[in-house]
Amino acid sequence: EKGGHEYFMLKEIEEQPEALADTLRGHFVDGRVILDEQRMTDQDLRDVDKVFVVACGTAYHSGLVAKYAIEHWTRLPVEVELASEFRYRDPVLDRDTLVVAVSQSGETADTLEAVRHAREQKARVLAVCNTNGAQIPRESDAVLYTHAGPEVGVASTKTFLAQIAANLMVGLALAQARGTKYADEIAREFNELAAMPEAVRKVLGTIERVRDLGRSLADAKAVLFLGRHVGYPVALEGALKLKELAYMHAEGFAAGELKHGPIALIEEGLPVVIVMPSPKGRAVLHAKMVSNISEIQARGAHTIVLAEEGDEAVRPFADELIELPAVPTLLQPLVATVPLQVLSAEIARARGYDVDKPRNLAKSVTVE
Ligand code: M6R
Repeated sequence: EKGGHEYFMLKEIEEQPEALADTLRGHFVDGRVILDEQRMTDQDLRDVDKVFVVACGTAYHSGLVAKYAIEHWTRLPVEVELASEFRYRDPVLDRDTLVVAVSQSGETADTLEAVRHAREQKARVLAVCNTNGAQIPRESDAVLYTHAGPEVGVASTKTFLAQIAANLMVGLALAQARGTKYADEIAREFNELAAMPEAVRKVLGTIERVRDLGRSLADAKAVLFLGRHVGYPVALEGALKLKELAYMHAEGFAAGELKHGPIALIEEGLPVVIVMPSPKGRAVLHAKMVSNISEIQARGAHTIVLAEEGDEAVRPFADELIELPAVPTLLQPLVATVPLQVLSAEIARARGYDVDKPRNLAKSVTVE
């Protein structure tokens, strides 16, 4: 059942184009984005004046990715919060708040309790879930199922990409209800999303080099990940994968924070993975990132750079270069995450660990 793969995780990484395509399928009909099990009226969606995304772990990172797009498309404030923090403070919620609860399993204790708390406060809850009929969708006002199929590996891979796609569709559904985007703009955004399975397939075709790179990093003591804008949550997710699979110290930073502390960690030979913004789509951020990389390289870091193909400006600063296909900026995490998943899996394998069953972790965390 591992489809000729040594580990489920590797099979699941390769299934990502289908996971994305299956998640998007059927959600754009007659020019309209549609949700599942919609128990909210269009008026409810129109009335939304604030969005919270609550989730844990990788699902939380999917929310961070989507925040950029949802705010841009809807002009609604979006807060992304760890479910375990959300439920124990006193978040400001009312019936015009939309709480998006993202959970692959649909059974995560903290996310479920966050949903219950939100509903007690009369907020509307929309679940993004990969498991039909799980507790979180059952207790929500609407659902958007990710159709990634069963994920056996403890580390989330295909469900992460599917969650991003679903969260973005929530953004489009809100933009549609609120009229902050014209129908043709929504169609264009949806079509761009629909082209992503192909882009991910392209990345998967170039992954052999990342495997070699992973093997060469097996003895590293720590790895840092840097990103800006949507590349920042990608950096966080890359670091999480490395911690859980390779038991290596890994941290993700917003590159703009370097000078506020993390740059002190840079030393000779430290691998630093950098997610570059597009030189065309985000020229200003791109230039700032190049300057960040030159600084850390000058201090001896071993720079591993993920950059859009044709990005010549970054080449001199990249000790290792992983090229990504050019895609719309807000969708870049869907391609940039893939090499990082492979990198962590390879480092873990080279260190002799079972990537499907990392120590101390359970697939579904049903106790706090
Ligand atoms: O089932 P959920 O999406 O609610 O799970 C949330 C986290 O436990 C999960 O994403 C975890 O961080 C991943 N397995 C990490 O790869």
